[in-house]
Amino acid sequence: MRQPLIAGNWKMNGSQESVTALLNGVKAGMGDVAKAEVAVCVPAIHIPLVQDLLKDSAVTWGGEDLSVHDSGAYTGEISASMLNDFACKYVLVGHSERRAYHNEDDEVVAEKFEVAINAGLIPVLCIGETLEEREQGITEEVVVRQIEAVITRVGIDTLGKGVIAYEPVWAIGTGKTATPEMAQEAHATIRTRVAKSDATVADKIQILYGGSMNASNAAELLAQADIDGGLIGGASLKAEDFLAIALAAN
Ligand code: PGA
Repeated sequence: MRQPLIAGNWKMNGSQESVTALLNGVKAGMGDVAKAEVAVCVPAIHIPLVQDLLKDSAVTWGGEDLSVHDSGAYTGEISASMLNDFACKYVLVGHSERRAYHNEDDEVVAEKFEVAINAGLIPVLCIGETLEEREQGITEEVVVRQIEAVITRVGIDTLGKGVIAYEPVWAIGTGKTATPEMAQEAHATIRTRVAKSDATVADKIQILYGGSMNASNAAELLAQADIDGGLIGGASLKAEDFLAIALAAN
């Protein structure tokens, strides 16, 4: 049985004041969350504060991106060992905003996945098609290509140490959610592709849905057979909404 994972992706949001209020709110409601693991992936600058606020709680934390390099002259970058130094459990890799605005291609994303695994972090591999790709009918081809880039680089067993997040790009931050049926279809495609390499890994790997998941649509999405949790952007910035999603996984 796969444990549901509800992970927040704060993106470029938050002040010390708002982060403190948000996490105090989340911690206060965690008593009712019986089933899901709750995690937050946060801007690097907030990680020390987040660690301090969450260290004695059940909520885990991580980064939103990492460098492929471990140290050196890479101005502005954050390495896997730096994330480790602040006890991060997770790191997002290949979020569509990184792919689109920072030109991260499948190869770079696969390398980041590998670097994260080698450092003992759990990469959350984000994949998903754009609106144009969906309209062209190539959703399956795109997500399979994105997964295969990682399998080719690290092998199926190593892929199995990570988490996959299916995030249709057209649903991110737009208020347009994939219907539960559409999401389930994509998740099943992804799991089938993983199973082609290794059925045990396919059975175990968590596949999260991301893209305008919120307190009112979470239950229906999470009820789908191949949806094992959510990667939540906007709705993770309000304790009440984020907790409602975590409760929907109960
Ligand atoms: P959203 O973002 O929930 O605001 O659509 C999800 C994500 O980008 O991870």
